[in-house]
This record gives sequence, structure tokens and C-alpha cells, in this order.
Amino acid sequence: MNVSNETLEKRRKSAIGEKTAELLVRQISHELYNHALYRTFANYFAVRGLDKLETYYIGRADEEIEHHEWIVDRLNYADYEYAYPAVAAVEVEIKDKLDTFVQTVDKEIETTELIYEIVNAAKEENDWETFNWLQETLVDEQTEEEHISRKYLKVASQEDVDWITIAETVLTDYEEGQAADE
Ligand SMILES: [Fe+2]
Ligand SMILES: [Fe+2]
Repeated sequence: MNVSNETLEKRRKSAIGEKTAELLVRQISHELYNHALYRTFANYFAVRGLDKLETYYIGRADEEIEHHEWIVDRLNYADYEYAYPAVAAVEVEIKDKLDTFVQTVDKEIETTELIYEIVNAAKEENDWETFNWLQETLVDEQTEEEHISRKYLKVASQEDVDWITIAETVLTDYEEGQAADE
């Protein structure tokens, strides 16, 4: 098989599609933004004395750091050179406690859409290595992130349940899920 000079020259340096890599760098910024957003929600509950929801959102924020690290490690592994992207400041209006849960689901849906864009780029660029890695890491993880976000929105939406009980239920379930993942 004759591999073109262009392909040889490119892949001697780096094993990732250019557009795919650019979108992954962009995703670093989104994951770090999600971290900051969830830390903001943690603060919201801390100042309102709902420590268990503070702990829950710190946990969610820590996961965002982890997602960003997966990307960073992969770009290093593929020998892609880049500079860290800017992360937008959190400008968010929190209407009430329930609103954080709605905003969390919406943010995770947006994140899934962004990741699908990267998957599509990898497909277009015939970058099956990154395509495969994306399925195993970010795509798989988004299934869980969206699922638990929807689940806790339902818990928080129960009209006849007080916030201490909601906090207890959410944190206990979240911690059990995290422990099961390890
Ligand atoms: Fe994430
Ligand atoms: Fe997760």
C-alpha cells in the first residue's frame, strides 16, 4: 500500500486529526467551565446551609477536572502541541434551589452535543483511534452524567419533600454510584 507523503509527514509528528484535536482543545475549556459552574452551585448551597448539596456539587466539579484530564492526557499521547484555552467566567443567575438542577441537566445535554461534534469530526477525518477513544471515555461518561442529572432533577422536583431530605437522597445516591464506578 502506498501511503501518501502528506499522511506520512503528518503522522510522523502527531496521530490525531487536526479538526478533532482543535475541538478537543475547545472541550478542555468547556470541561473546566463546567467545573467552575458546579463549584458555583456548591457555593450557593454552602451559604444556604445545605452542606450535602455543597458536597454533591463539589463531587460533580471534581469529575469535570477528571474529564479535562482525560483530554489533556490523550492530546499528549497523540503528540498534539497546543496552548491551554481560556475558560469563560461563570455568569449565571440562580433563580432558586431547583434551578441549579435544571441548569445541570441542560449543561450536560449541551456537553453531550459538543462531544458528538468531536465524534463527528473524528469520523470525517478517518481518525478511528480517537473515534474509539471518544466512545470509551467521554461518550460513555456523558451517558452517566446526563442520567444522574435527570434523576436528581426528579428527586429535587418532589413537591412534598423538604430540602434536607432531597440533599440527603441526592448525596447518598451520588456517592454510592461513584463508589460502584471505582
Ligand atoms: Fe464533563
Ligand atoms: Fe461521571
